[in-house]
Amino acid sequence: MSDDRTSSRLLGLRDYSKLAEQDQNIVWHPYTQMQEYAQSEPIIIRRGEGPYLFDVRRRRFLDAYGSMWCNVWGHSHPELVKAIQQQAAQLCHASLFTVSHVGAVDFANMLVDAIKQDFRFADEAPSLSHVFYSDNGSTAVEVAMKMALQYQNQIGQINRTQFLTFHSGYHGDTFGAMSASSIDVFTQKFAPSLFKTHHATYPVQVDPDEHESTRHIEMQLEALIAGRSDKIAAVVIEPVIQAASGMRPLAEDYLGKIKKYCREYDILLITDEVFTGFCRTGPLIASSTELVEPDIVCLGKGITGGMVGMGVTVANDRVYNAFKGEWKDMRQLLHGHTFSGNPIACAVAIRNLEMIYEEKLKENVKSRARELNYALRRAIGGHERVGQIRQRGLAVGIPIKDREGNEDAGYEARDDANRMCQHAIEASRVLLRPLGNVITIVPPLNIETEQIDEIVNAIAKSLEVLDAKPE
Ligand SMILES: Cc1ncc(COP(=O)(O)O)c(C=O)c1O
Repeated sequence: MSDDRTSSRLLGLRDYSKLAEQDQNIVWHPYTQMQEYAQSEPIIIRRGEGPYLFDVRRRRFLDAYGSMWCNVWGHSHPELVKAIQQQAAQLCHASLFTVSHVGAVDFANMLVDAIKQDFRFADEAPSLSHVFYSDNGSTAVEVAMKMALQYQNQIGQINRTQFLTFHSGYHGDTFGAMSASSIDVFTQKFAPSLFKTHHATYPVQVDPDEHESTRHIEMQLEALIAGRSDKIAAVVIEPVIQAASGMRPLAEDYLGKIKKYCREYDILLITDEVFTGFCRTGPLIASSTELVEPDIVCLGKGITGGMVGMGVTVANDRVYNAFKGEWKDMRQLLHGHTFSGNPIACAVAIRNLEMIYEEKLKENVKSRARELNYALRRAIGGHERVGQIRQRGLAVGIPIKDREGNEDAGYEARDDANRMCQHAIEASRVLLRPLGNVITIVPPLNIETEQIDEIVNAIAKSLEVLDAKPE
């Protein structure tokens, strides 16, 4: 590469149209219709600072979707950058297959302590204390599912090969995680290659203060479990809120009920906290909200502050002990990735966790969540096309009703929510993303009042596209 090209790339001064053309033709973007994308004017980011992303055309965008829900401290926070730089200068990678390294040990230790802290009011101290590293949220779930199957096999429960999961759940895009998911638009084209799981109802409670009885749903759950109690290896659930199906909050107390049946029928409980974990809904571990300790917890996204990819699966003693034996017994966990526990990821995860306590992030999430909720209700709550706003912590879903007033139309009715998000991006420079007919707000967790107002104003203004005719 010529010096000229190198320096212009570093300065971000390359010609936009050339860059856009290459992006549209060479980079294959996730979940993106590339034919449409090729007709668009892509936003090509050059740098980030705080909650803002700056593109190569020197425009500033507020990252209201937290770069796919993982951002904790805004972009390129100097403390996290420093942690990465210092680690990179010392050791970029050493694989846990053969050796260990300081960062992997330190972060695992800190995480186990942090989990204890979250469960400090539980009757028993949590035994979630064995940390397995992988690369992202999907692999964290994949590992948990393999752990559960291998565990059952190794304790002699060889018929326990099935999973109980929940309607509208999403657990990632690898094959096991897709099998556990149940959002048809994402998985139907792969259906013949997925394994079957049993789907139970996920009782939704939109208003945290209005608790409706879930007794009939609970009875269905028990019947589903009891009918195949010797076949189910584990229950897999997104605690507190289902994210990808449009921010659907779980009925209060229901996780405890699931845990009760798991205990009764000797089934493992896996909580997928890839989205909810690391303070998105308040606590570090979302299932600690109800002091329900899972057997296995999956973490990702915010674990490194959203700086680099990392997944973690934490298991309790009961699960871990079933993997002990001699080499020839082949009881060791049969899973691993080249970059599992990468030192740079561990270093930034350590600094992120330290900052969560230093900066009292959990408290910030609570107070900003209240502000955001209030501001949204005031600005758009009364609009005839806005459904009931769903929120837990700094995870918000705003259903946009179709013209018949239906707020559950999902992907069939994506157009209006999509047009609103496009308006927010173009007119207000606020990056938002729809999930079907639901507009989601998942900002960096250290967001401030000023940016909350920016997001709410952008959404309020974008409602005007609903009065205009679709193109
Ligand atoms: C609950 C949940 N599990 C798993 C995943 C998959 O994570 P990743 O995209 O890092 O593979 C996601 C991603 O949105 C998620 O929300």
